[in-house]
Amino acid sequence: MDPFKLERYFARYEFNVRYLLSSSDCDGFSLDYVLSKATNNELKLWNNLTLGYKDSTGDPLLREAIAKHYNSIKADEVFVLTPGEANYILMKLSLLSGDEIVCMKPAYQSLYQIAKDIGCYIKFWEPDINGSFNPDDLRSLVSQKTRMLIVNFPHNPTGYYPTKQELDTIISIASKYNTLLYSDEMYHKLVHDPAKLNDSLVDLYENTISLWGTAKSFGLAGLRIGWVVSHNQSLLQKMKLFRDYLSICNSAPAEILTMIALNNSEEFIEVNLNKIRSNKAIFAEFAGRHSNFIKDYSEPPAGSTAFVKLNLSEPSLDYAERLVQETGIMTVPSEMFEYGQSHIRVGFGRANMPEALQAWEAVLPK
Ligand SMILES: Cc1ncc(COP(=O)(O)O)c(C=O)c1O
Repeated sequence: MDPFKLERYFARYEFNVRYLLSSSDCDGFSLDYVLSKATNNELKLWNNLTLGYKDSTGDPLLREAIAKHYNSIKADEVFVLTPGEANYILMKLSLLSGDEIVCMKPAYQSLYQIAKDIGCYIKFWEPDINGSFNPDDLRSLVSQKTRMLIVNFPHNPTGYYPTKQELDTIISIASKYNTLLYSDEMYHKLVHDPAKLNDSLVDLYENTISLWGTAKSFGLAGLRIGWVVSHNQSLLQKMKLFRDYLSICNSAPAEILTMIALNNSEEFIEVNLNKIRSNKAIFAEFAGRHSNFIKDYSEPPAGSTAFVKLNLSEPSLDYAERLVQETGIMTVPSEMFEYGQSHIRVGFGRANMPEALQAWEAVLPK
């Protein structure tokens, strides 16, 4: 399998540089913080936890806590596993060599790479000349032949988020062919204006499998917990059988901590949203001051990142390499998304973003 470019780039720099200016996860909360939000009953579960194997579908109490975040999902329609496992298993079970799929691009690589390795033919849904995804473009991409439509809202890296009307268009295109919709919602609820928040696609279109997890919206990437929800019991059952060959079940402590976070979600998501909103305002000012260099930046409505076009005389990978060597600022160049050579991803979820921008400013042309 081709290396996962973004993850390999992080493996090189994430733990040995001064500033992470491109992370998509928000600062991790401490264990103390999570436990301080627990009710007495939840604390009892934590203190009496035994470290044996757990229910391979996910702890029943955790599945109930997850189901409450959807309008149409019951606890038995939830399957708890890591997001990477979910991607892998779903693609391996649903796709065959020669199948056609449609996926957004740029995108988190595993959303199309596994299908590519299976031998699928991939049609990419890309931003239009205005730099934004246009759902109408899906009309010429999705057809009877489409085995799976893969979307990711809020989108990594651009922060694109469909309006309710745009979402209706996407659903109507998928419904026309009853296409299986895989909705990666890892950044669900990180919507900067609460009035614009959409329901999960699993609540809006029957033939959907939605993915969410703790890494982004909750600032709990280290728990390594995610889940898929779907009304398709037969697909969920097949995924469970496959998972027996991988992790078998989840980490017991991580499941309890995830349950606490889900039962107190505001205490996590709101804190992250406030940080993102504040950093976004700071970055807008920074981009305005350096409009000769920051060629194209439009404020994202959702998520924790933006994809920013720079005015460069070299590939963005070379620029990113020079920047990290000279200043200790790690950015993610667009080459890591296999998407041209002129963008970098900017992440808004880190408290030290203002310091990182100051360090960047010091080496930018005046
Ligand atoms: C769109 C998207 N899906 C899935 C994942 C994987 O999430 P996790 O890191 O919790 O495995 C990521 C992580 O960056 C992501 O951006």
